[in-house]
Amino acid sequence: MKMPQILGVGFIAFLLSTAPACSQSEPPPPQGVASPAPAELRDGEQKFTANCSACHGAGGVGTKQGPPLVHKVYEPNHHGDAAFQRAAANGVKSHHWQFGDMPKIDAVKPDDVEQIVKYVRWLQKQAGIF
Ligand code: HEC
Repeated sequence: MKMPQILGVGFIAFLLSTAPACSQSEPPPPQGVASPAPAELRDGEQKFTANCSACHGAGGVGTKQGPPLVHKVYEPNHHGDAAFQRAAANGVKSHHWQFGDMPKIDAVKPDDVEQIVKYVRWLQKQAGIF
């Protein structure tokens, strides 16, 4: 009955000896949030997360409730910063997608939207959209 135990110990030692090689590879970053936002965009990120991400998704990748804002349709030449202000102030009648209308977002003021737009533009740039 000694042999199996010795084999067992040997097997565990084998596993341990291979462990360092495994722990060297970092897990890949989650999709859509490639790197943390720079410090000056954190306010915009927070406001986006609080007021927009329920529909437009964390990192602007979209959800079942709303389209991705990290999308070439929303790059600056198609939807300039004024479109974001209008969307937040007045809401949006569904026209590009099948998600339905966007309600106006009373909780955000123009200054907030300006910060949110900066964050979204950064996300778009990270994704190589413009
Ligand atoms: C309740 C869901 C919901 C929330 C919350 C929401 N949106 Fe939207 N948004 C939508 C939908 C749906 C559309 C797409 C309408 C369409 O079909 O074109 C949209 C479209 C837009 C557009 C495009 C406007 C245009 O001119 O076509 C912008 C910009 C936008 N949203 C910004 C925001 C911002 C900024 C916030 C947060 C302050 C926000 N949205 C919060 C659902 C939402």
